[in-house]
Parts: sequence; structure tokens; C-alpha cells
Amino acid sequence: MKLDNQSFIVTGGASGIGLGITRRLISEGGRVIAVDINAETGQRVVEECGDNVRFVKGDVSDPQVAAAAIAEAVSSFGGLNGLVNNAHASRQKPFLELEEADWALSFSTGFQATLNFMRAAHDELAKTKGSVVNFGSGAAMSGQLGQASYAAAKEAIRGVSRVLANEWAPEGIRVNIVSPLALTPGVQAWSEEQPEQYEQTVATIPLARFGDPETDVAPVVAFLLSSDAQYMTGQTLMADGGIRKLY
Ligand SMILES: NC(=O)c1ccc[n+]([C@@H]2O[C@H](COP(=O)([O-])OP(=O)(O)OC[C@H]3O[C@@H](n4cnc5c(N)ncnc54)[C@H](O)[C@@H]3O)[C@@H](O)[C@H]2O)c1
Repeated sequence: MKLDNQSFIVTGGASGIGLGITRRLISEGGRVIAVDINAETGQRVVEECGDNVRFVKGDVSDPQVAAAAIAEAVSSFGGLNGLVNNAHASRQKPFLELEEADWALSFSTGFQATLNFMRAAHDELAKTKGSVVNFGSGAAMSGQLGQASYAAAKEAIRGVSRVLANEWAPEGIRVNIVSPLALTPGVQAWSEEQPEQYEQTVATIPLARFGDPETDVAPVVAFLLSSDAQYMTGQTLMADGGIRKLY
């Protein structure tokens, strides 16, 4: 299989899109360190995936959690072939209502965590000529209402990713970005609370549905992590049903 005996870290890997990625990487022969703040969903992943997964409980904004995840990849799976910076927490509010704590939440769990994990993973990724996939968002690219703190952190992640794609290319480390749209538990809950808004959004998606984390978004991440994408770096791939186009 494409990812046989390769080892990956997936932040936020215990639910939503991260869980889809964890499952997909394992189904392609890989092994995963799932890092998540939620111990309950982490335990479920361990029960489901057995020896192919290790769960590291912690807050991705804590640099010690990044160090622990890399150490776990080395001790359990012999090294690290790829890093997926998927976790990101934020609050939606109009710009003038955003408080320091709101900005801090989005930047610490999204931007700072991505930096922490990239810093901590660099030496192991250099050994394997590994790959990084970071997460962007169409809401950030389009300037969606109420998303200032989230959009700023997401576009900062894309900016740093492009620079590191260039800086780390001589070492053989590739850095790409995925911008997804998927029916996660959070989106599902919103669709039930606001069915009209949900239907209006679906109507704007060319492929006319929200994606599935495991079968629509995770394969794009797996592709970028695999040698099939060995000539791609610094790119943003939209796994979003065609709702936004990058030119
Ligand atoms: N769902 C979408 O349609 C969509 C659209 C655009 C971008 N994204 C991006 O895709 C990624 C995944 O989205 P999702 O919808 O699956 O998110 P989610 O909120 O459903 O899941 C995120 C996971 O991260 C974990 N997590 C949250 N904060 C954490 C922290 N501080 N430390 C460790 N773990 C933490 C959660 O427990 C959860 O398991 C995010 O970067 C998100 O911004 C999602």
C-alpha cells in the first residue's frame, strides 16, 4: 500500500476531519500519532485502530505536547514521515466584539500550534524527507462575516507554509495546505439548528453537498503526504466541492 510502514502525526486526530485522516492514513498502510485535547474521543480511536495508532492527549498550543508527539512517533514507530496540522479552535464574532481571549484562542491553537509542531518535527522529517500538510479555510480566503480571528490565523498559516516550502525544499521536506469543506459533527449540529442556512450554503457548492471527512478530504491529505505528490510543495489544494477556486 501507498503509505506502508510510514508514520504520521495528526493533530485533532480524534474527531471530525482529523479522525477521517487518521482512518485513511491507516487504511493506506500508515501508522498515526493522534494528538487531541479530548481524551474520550482519543480513547475511541485507540479502541478502533489498535496498534496502528497512539493517542497523545494534550493542547496543541503547548510546545511540550508537540515534543511528546514527536517522541512518541520515534519510540513507537521508529521515526516520522509526515505531519498534519489539523486542529484549530476559534470563536465566531463580529470584529468589534472579539476580545483578546478570542484572538489568543485562534492564534494559539491554529497558528502557534502549527509553528510548534513544525519546529519540533523538522529534524525527524529531514531524516525521512517527509511532508507537512497544514490547514487553510475558504472562509478565510473569502472574508466570511464573523471570522476575523480565524481568518487571520488561517492566512498566517498559509503564509508561513509557503515560506517553509521554500526554506525546507533543499532538505527534501515538502509543505502544502489543504482547504476543506466537510460535514463534521460541528457542521452536522449547525445544520440541525439552522436548516435554512445550511440549505443555502449547500446551494452554493458546485458538487451540491458537504464533503465527507474520510472519503472526500482525507484522500487529498494522504495524496499530499505520499510520494505521488513528490513534485508538489507550497500549494493550497481545495477539497471543498468546488466552492472556491484559486488561480
Ligand atoms: N469542517 C469544515 O468544513 C472546515 C472548513 C474549513 C476549514 N476547516 C479546518 O479543518 C480542520 C479540521 O476541522 P474540523 O471541522 O474537523 O474541526 P473540529 O472542531 O470538528 O475538530 C477539531 C479536532 O481538534 C481537537 N482540538 C480542538 N482544540 C484542540 C487543542 N487546543 N488541542 C488539541 N486538540 C484540539 C478537537 O477535540 C477535535 O478533535 C481545522 O483546521 C478547520 O479550521 C474545516
